[in-house]
Amino acid sequence: MPSLYSEYTLKEHLIPNRLVMPPMVCFNWSDDTGRVSDEHIRHYEKRGIGQVGLVVVEATAISKIGRLAPSQLGIWDHKQVEGLSKIAGVLGSRGSKSLLQIHHAGDKAPKSVASEPLAPSRYELPDGRITKALTRGEIKGIQKEFLVAALRAEEAGYDGIEIHGAHGYLINQFLSPLTNHREDAYGGSPENRLRFAKELLTLLKGNLPENFIIGYRHGGNTPTLAEGIEISRELEQMGVDLLHISAGIAEEKDLPKPPESFPYSWIVYTGMETKKALNIPVVVVNGIRTPEEGEAIIKKELSDFVAVGRGLLVDSKWIIKGEQGQPVNPCLRCKPRCFYLTDGRKC
Ligand code: FNR
Repeated sequence: MPSLYSEYTLKEHLIPNRLVMPPMVCFNWSDDTGRVSDEHIRHYEKRGIGQVGLVVVEATAISKIGRLAPSQLGIWDHKQVEGLSKIAGVLGSRGSKSLLQIHHAGDKAPKSVASEPLAPSRYELPDGRITKALTRGEIKGIQKEFLVAALRAEEAGYDGIEIHGAHGYLINQFLSPLTNHREDAYGGSPENRLRFAKELLTLLKGNLPENFIIGYRHGGNTPTLAEGIEISRELEQMGVDLLHISAGIAEEKDLPKPPESFPYSWIVYTGMETKKALNIPVVVVNGIRTPEEGEAIIKKELSDFVAVGRGLLVDSKWIIKGEQGQPVNPCLRCKPRCFYLTDGRKC
C-alpha cells in the first residue's frame, strides 16, 4: 500500500516521498534583473533539509513582458541560469527532486511590466488597459520562449519543468472561452483552445532529453470540471509526465461542488476527480494541513502526491515531523512576512 513516506520513481528519478512543495513566488527577494538572490537559496535549502520529496521552484518568467511583477525570477536571459542552478544544486544535494515552474502571465502582467499585456484576444482589463491579441507568429515566438526556458532549466540541473497552465495566466487564458474569443485555429472549440498547449508540448517533447520530467499545472476546472478532465486526458496523451491540478478560469456557477461530506477543498476534489480518469501521476493541492491528512489521501490512492504550500512555509520540517509522529504547525493563515505582508505584520 502506498504511503506519504514511500518513494515514487518517475522516469528514472527516484522521488523519496510523496510530498511536493508547490511553486510559491516571493517578490521581495529579487530585483528587476530577475536573478536568484541568497535569500532564495536559503529558502530552498531549508526545504531540502526538510526532506521534501519534490520541490517545484516558483513561477519563473520566460520573458520580460510575461512577468507577474518586475522582481519575479526570470529565465529569459542566459545570465539567469547560474543562480537558478544554485537552487537546483542545494535541493539535489539533500536528495529532493526539483522542477522549475516556467510561466507567462499573459493579461496578468501589471502596468509596471506591460502597458499592453499579451493575451489570446483583445479586451479591456479592469484597470483600463487593452490587451494585445497575439498573432500566429507571436504565438510561435512564445512557444519558442517556453522551449528555451525548458532547455535552460535542464542546463541548470533541474530534473524537469512544470508548465504553468493554471490560475488564469496565458496558457489558461487560451483554454478558457471567457478570455479566448479567437475565431482562428486557436479559439472556439475545446480542441482549438487547447492548441497552444498541445503545440507547446510537441515542441518540448521533440527537443528535451527523454529522462527530463515534463510536469503541467492545470487549472482543472477550466471552464468546467468535465471539460477540465477532458483536457487532462489530452495532456496525458501528449506526453505530460506529471499533472498538478489547481484552479483555473471559470464562472462562479461552474465551480466544482464536492459532496457535503468531502473533507478537503474543491480544488483537492478537482484533482481527485481528475486522477480517476488518468494513468499518469497526479498531485493534489490546496488546504492540506497535516501529515495525517496527506497520509490518508495517499493510502487511499486518491492521489499519487500531495502538495503543501503554506504548511511548508511555516514548518519546513513538515514531513520529518509527520514521520516521527510529532505535530506540525497546521496554520494556513500564518503568512511568513516575505510572502504576503508589506506592512510589517508578523504571523
Ligand atoms: C502561491 N501559489 C503559486 N502557484 C503557482 O502555480 N506558482 C506560483 O509561483 C505561486 N506562488 C505562490 C506564492 C505564495 C506565497 C502562495 C501562498 C501561493 C499557489 C500555491 O502553489 C498553492 O497552490 C497554494 O498555496 C495552495 O496550497 P496550500 O498553501 O493550501 O498548501
